[in-house]
Amino acid sequence: MVDMDKIVSLSKRRGFIFQSSEIYGGLGSAWDYGPLGVELKNNVKRLWWRDNVHLRDDMVGLDAAITMHPRVWEASGHLASFSDPFTGCLDCGRHYRADHVEEARKNSKWWQSLKELNDWPDVKKWVQSDKGGKKLAPNLPLVKNPDQIFQKMRGFGPNLTSVAGPDAHALPELQGLTDAMLLNIVADGSSVCPNCGGKLSDPKPASLMLKVGLGPVDETATQTYLRPETAQGIFVNFDNVLQASRKKLPFGIAQIGKAFRNEITPGNFTFRTREFEQMEIEFFVLPGTDEEWHQKWIDERFAWYPRYGIRKENIRLREHEKDELAHYAKRTADIEYLFPMGWSELEGIANRTDFDLKQHSEFSGKALEYFDEESKQKIVPYVIEPSAGADRSTLAFLVDAYHEEEVRGEKRVVLKFHPELAPIKIAVLPLLKKNDRIVETAKKLTADLRKRWYTVYDDTASIGRLYRRQDEVGTPFCITVDVQTVGDEKAAADEKVTIRDRNTMEQVRVSLPALEPVMEKLMAGIWVDVAQEHGIKRT
Ligand code: GAP
Repeated sequence: MVDMDKIVSLSKRRGFIFQSSEIYGGLGSAWDYGPLGVELKNNVKRLWWRDNVHLRDDMVGLDAAITMHPRVWEASGHLASFSDPFTGCLDCGRHYRADHVEEARKNSKWWQSLKELNDWPDVKKWVQSDKGGKKLAPNLPLVKNPDQIFQKMRGFGPNLTSVAGPDAHALPELQGLTDAMLLNIVADGSSVCPNCGGKLSDPKPASLMLKVGLGPVDETATQTYLRPETAQGIFVNFDNVLQASRKKLPFGIAQIGKAFRNEITPGNFTFRTREFEQMEIEFFVLPGTDEEWHQKWIDERFAWYPRYGIRKENIRLREHEKDELAHYAKRTADIEYLFPMGWSELEGIANRTDFDLKQHSEFSGKALEYFDEESKQKIVPYVIEPSAGADRSTLAFLVDAYHEEEVRGEKRVVLKFHPELAPIKIAVLPLLKKNDRIVETAKKLTADLRKRWYTVYDDTASIGRLYRRQDEVGTPFCITVDVQTVGDEKAAADEKVTIRDRNTMEQVRVSLPALEPVMEKLMAGIWVDVAQEHGIKRT
């Protein structure tokens, strides 16, 4: 698995994702999509919309406002319970989500360097060293008060004398300690900061809602929140959409849009940010059919990611334990992806029951019901909610596409995107940029292909370098125009161009009139058929 630093560096170098406000030192929790990133993310959203809205007749779309009436958040339960446990370091002031501290501490520099030590004399040296504890964890109890800690440990075994002085009894064998025992010793029983080893405060709940005042004067502004999920815009529009679309149950409303959460520990690149985009479906069903529909949606959504290239071994389903279910959920299954930092949530698929519609009916006084023709009764539908992150999906597709290969003794970095996801579909490359006929033909070809596929023209380097450049941004096909294409004084034009496949680096030579139908097949991902039909061109 590629490490995240390589993805971050490639993203910046090639224009996928930049740090927000970088010239001001950056804003840790926000990222900007560059020229290729915006294409990739738009493709993710377009495919999601096409597959979930346009290709189904039980679905319609919606684009609700980000700011909503403050009562929405009372009704939805977010005001009362949308919080994470939060803790802060009393020494360095860093904040953490309490349930993330353990993971952060395990990955911290001070813990990892402490774990490499062999015995207690080494620990003592580490404590005093400018490169060890003093620098990495200056507020760790062991570093602040080593004598006191060693003193406390008297009576553990026969080794203490060398470290703690002649009157000590013993320290336990360092290697024999479990991680929990070692942590307990060095932290003197407290919960410690992954950054500096300082003491952490007791966890308290912190609201994840981002407050916003609407109106020009602070005192009279309407206080509301930036939506923490797009879902509520769908629930409050349930009746509007029902009346306007005349849909019958089961049917769904889909929406793609920004959501905001005051995350305590944003991080891992675009994985957890305070501003992000969701792709959500609220699928309304007859009560009693909810469990069956829930399973159908889990299966459907789980099959979606591999359809566009995610390797099957890199995704899995994880069922929520009863005690981690959201306040509205009867059952939730997460689709997890093996990100560089480990298995993490990509999408959640929840059975939200009739909780939201009932809450909004109660708080607004407007009945959100459906008249069931069969039973001749008004009912409140149950809701199945597949809720995906557009940024997380984009990151997963980027990570999964990343490959490093060795080609003729050189490293080749290649993003093996599915053609439908690739930011640039075709690069047209003239073999000789000083040959006017080649350049003219290549530019005309680019203009023609652009009408159907995002195509770029590039003549700014040698052909080898141009190929590598396109490999690194995941362009599935390069088309080269050469002397044979346009002819010269020795030979007539053959009016054929060379198509190079990014993954196999194989090439076929295709006549210009046949190019468009061939490209159509290639975009559908069937290089093998095209290669058989046209014969591989050996270079
Ligand atoms: N309406 C249900 C809901 O919002 P969620 O599991 O909290 O459920 C759904 O969020 C998806 O939104 C997640 O699976 C993830 O892909 C994305 N998401 C949530 N918080 C995020 C954050 N801070 N940064 C980026 N994406 C996030």
